[in-house]
Amino acid sequence: MNEIAIESPLDKIQDVIENGTRYAFITGDSLNVLKKIPINSINCVITSPPYWNLREYDTNHFENSIGNESDYRDYIITLTNIFIEIHRIIKNDGSLWLNLGDKYYNKALMGIPWRVALSLMDKGWILRNDIIWDQMKGTQSAKDRLRDVYEHIFHFVKNKTYYYNHDEIRIEPIRKPKIYNGELVSATGVNGKKYRKQIAESNSLNELERKNANIALDEVLNDLAIGKIVDFRMTIRGEQRAFHSESTSISGRAKELESKGYYILKMGANGHLPSDIWRIAPEDTWRKDAHYAVFPEELIINPIKATCPDDGIVLDPFSGTGSAVAIAIKLGRRGIGIDISENYNKIAEERVKNLKNQLF
Ligand SMILES: C[S@@+](CC[C@H](N)C(=O)[O-])C[C@H]1O[C@@H](n2cnc3c(N)ncnc32)[C@H](O)[C@@H]1O
Repeated sequence: MNEIAIESPLDKIQDVIENGTRYAFITGDSLNVLKKIPINSINCVITSPPYWNLREYDTNHFENSIGNESDYRDYIITLTNIFIEIHRIIKNDGSLWLNLGDKYYNKALMGIPWRVALSLMDKGWILRNDIIWDQMKGTQSAKDRLRDVYEHIFHFVKNKTYYYNHDEIRIEPIRKPKIYNGELVSATGVNGKKYRKQIAESNSLNELERKNANIALDEVLNDLAIGKIVDFRMTIRGEQRAFHSESTSISGRAKELESKGYYILKMGANGHLPSDIWRIAPEDTWRKDAHYAVFPEELIINPIKATCPDDGIVLDPFSGTGSAVAIAIKLGRRGIGIDISENYNKIAEERVKNLKNQLF
């Protein structure tokens, strides 16, 4: 009699890691599954574990369902153990993006996201950003405090140097240099004439400093003309104050101002990096039929673009409806999702299959 080969979760994971299979969804307890994943094999983890004491998922009744702990300290230990395992399986230049929301308990805001973050830092994770996800939420019932509108997204890395493709996530400058009254001005209308006059009339600059400041101003105006930059600001000793601090022991710019007599800040034409406050409305399409806390697609795009190389692997150990995996596939990466709920995994599989039909 022929034996029927039953594919184990490990085989499915191995296929993605080693054989180039695009994605896999594994049903099981995250910690148990993670323990089976080889060391240094995942580029990027993006995840939103169940929040403590929220009780909104249809998986709350499962034995290993996270978030049901009666003491928040047990929740933090459970999550910490999971992220110790993730530290092991992530590549040396890999990243972890962890989304967590807070909780009021006995009237007190518990500070759960930061308690978890501090615990992970104690276990060796290096925190690079605390992103405030402004969800622009509507109403709330409490009348004795302000509305809560944000959650945290922590970006952790394993080592001080790590994969980060900042060019992939730059924001194009909205305003560009233009011709105004027949002359070139920067995105915010700077033409350099005011600086030229200040350099000429300054009592603070000596002749050499005056000459060098004029040369630097010529150079930056040329950069503007050839499209290398979109804007600039010049700070001249005795005319403008140094940004942030005038103390030469604190500020490098104040030091430059003292030694050279001027400094210039340039805004490059390649755009700037996004800030650590993201205004993204929560997803509502999937929520209606299947899940309570789906990642909005927009939230995951930049983490994947910046920290997962082309064809690299994105893992979500609490994948729910499979958003992180779906976006990874859309962006040409591979993806692995783990969820305790078979039901959610079915929805996730279907979602990615439909995506594949659209894509290939
Ligand atoms: C906040 S939701 C994730 C939603 C997901 N980001 C999405 O876009 O759909 C958390 C998920 O963790 C799952 N979960 C709870 N305990 C788990 C465990 N021990 N192992 C694996 N998954 C678990 C729940 O079933 C739930 O789908």
